[in-house]
Amino acid sequence: MISPANPIGVFDSGIGGLTVVRQLMALLPNENIVYFGDTARVPYGNKSAEVIREYAVQDTRFLLSKGVKLIVVACNTASALAMDVVMAHSTVPSVGVIEPTAREAASRAGARGIGVIGTLSTINSSAYSTALHDIAPGARILSQACPLFVPLAEEGMFEHKATDLIAKEYLSGFSGKVDVMILGCTHYPLLRDVISRALGGGVELVDAGEATAKSARDLLKSANMLNQQGARPRYEFYVSDFPQKFNEIAERFLGRKLEFVRKVQIYSDGDIR
Ligand code: DGL
Repeated sequence: MISPANPIGVFDSGIGGLTVVRQLMALLPNENIVYFGDTARVPYGNKSAEVIREYAVQDTRFLLSKGVKLIVVACNTASALAMDVVMAHSTVPSVGVIEPTAREAASRAGARGIGVIGTLSTINSSAYSTALHDIAPGARILSQACPLFVPLAEEGMFEHKATDLIAKEYLSGFSGKVDVMILGCTHYPLLRDVISRALGGGVELVDAGEATAKSARDLLKSANMLNQQGARPRYEFYVSDFPQKFNEIAERFLGRKLEFVRKVQIYSDGDIR
């Protein structure tokens, strides 16, 4: 029996989903959270739709086995390509990052256009442009895949001249054309300053984590599923590889000690436990 005290489940291809977790912790401080980061199979962003969908279903099943009351697909790539299969396999509600982020961006857009940056798979899927066209028909949308941003963020090269150069190369086409930019990848909020600099002034950045956390809160509220218990929340983190490295990065990024980080095994039939 799923009750409001059950945890929110979040999955991502690796550590990047912590940008969403951080927003969930800030906005919903009473909620228990179970996180799964697929660190053995990251990145998802350059894999085929077929593979991403298969992984997303396995990740969903794993979270369901932990008794979650809601599934948050923190990974933009999985949200772009696999939301339908997540919903089909989930016995609890689920929310991806695309729709809430597109809505937030459309509400902030001005006279110019809306920019979207993400992994190759996310941009090739056109998921953001499709969602934006539904929400704001006629909006001018400009998209660009920025595949090197993920490894740069993973290497911690947030302030580095190589990152500045690459950002300028990717983002020069947006100059003067957008007033809002969707950071359509879990890792991009980590490169916020570099992206901002490369875009020049006057472009508002929309963080997928923030918009998605708000959407999760609204969904739980309308279903009367917000946790009302005032006890200290329990956070469980599961990864498919490198738990120690994950722990170090996560503690630094979330600014707190993690009490529960475990490695899980992915079996050949796709079962994760
Ligand atoms: N989590 C992915 C996303 O938000 C980025 C990392 C990857 O390619 O797996 O699209």
